[in-house]
Amino acid sequence: MADWRLDERMHAGDEHLDPDYVARYERKAGFDPADDIDVLHRHGLTGDTVVVDMGAGTGVFTAAVAPLCHKVIAVDISPMMIAALRSRVERDGLGNVSVVEAGFLSYDHDTEPADIVYTRNALHQLPDFWKAIALQRLFAMLRPGGILRVRDLVFDFEPGDADSSIEAWFSGAVTDPAVGFTAEELATHVRTEFSTYSWLLEPILERVGFTVLDCHYERSAYGTYTCVRRAA
Ligand SMILES: C[S@@+](CC[C@H](N)C(=O)[O-])C[C@H]1O[C@@H](n2cnc3c(N)ncnc32)[C@H](O)[C@@H]1O
Repeated sequence: MADWRLDERMHAGDEHLDPDYVARYERKAGFDPADDIDVLHRHGLTGDTVVVDMGAGTGVFTAAVAPLCHKVIAVDISPMMIAALRSRVERDGLGNVSVVEAGFLSYDHDTEPADIVYTRNALHQLPDFWKAIALQRLFAMLRPGGILRVRDLVFDFEPGDADSSIEAWFSGAVTDPAVGFTAEELATHVRTEFSTYSWLLEPILERVGFTVLDCHYERSAYGTYTCVRRAA
């Protein structure tokens, strides 16, 4: 059969394959996972929990959750991110973290079902057709009752409001690319990546078998979802 599968590495985002960008990524992203950890504690995170961090990047979330759970499987498609992640795991002595170079569409979860799947700012690398398949695959990794926490760039506005909403979003961008994302970078994101609308993503989550327990949006461009996996 002709090969119809997506090349995930080609869609990983050029910057994520650039060692210089990867070295600067954490300062730029300024990501603090404390809120995610709080929410996950409220949804059953314990010392027995198995966590998958999909699109783990340099491992900020992985390193925060590892001391609080049984095991973390940190997955990323970029060999450069994987190298940074492995160094962090070694440096911090995180003996319960497995690092896997793979993606949403290719990771083979051949161990016990996960209790929690977490993914932040990675799903938008995939067009919607693939996003739905990716979410179905995350569903299949989780035990029934398991929790999916998704954070991503998601557009929470109507198509007719795109001009004003995107303009308002860009107006809050930084000017120094070392400490955040500039309007130019956000524009590249809109033009070349696959952020979807909130009103499409919510039904996709439900369709593949999740119940969305909570979702909220910030600046009409960032969505956070806490979902529970229904029984098959
Ligand atoms: C913006 S970074 C976010 C990293 C991390 N989750 C964080 O919040 O700091 C996006 C990550 O998604 C990874 N990625 C891109 N496409 C992917 C795919 N199809 N499967 C898994 N990871 C992917 C990139 O390599 C990159 O590490």
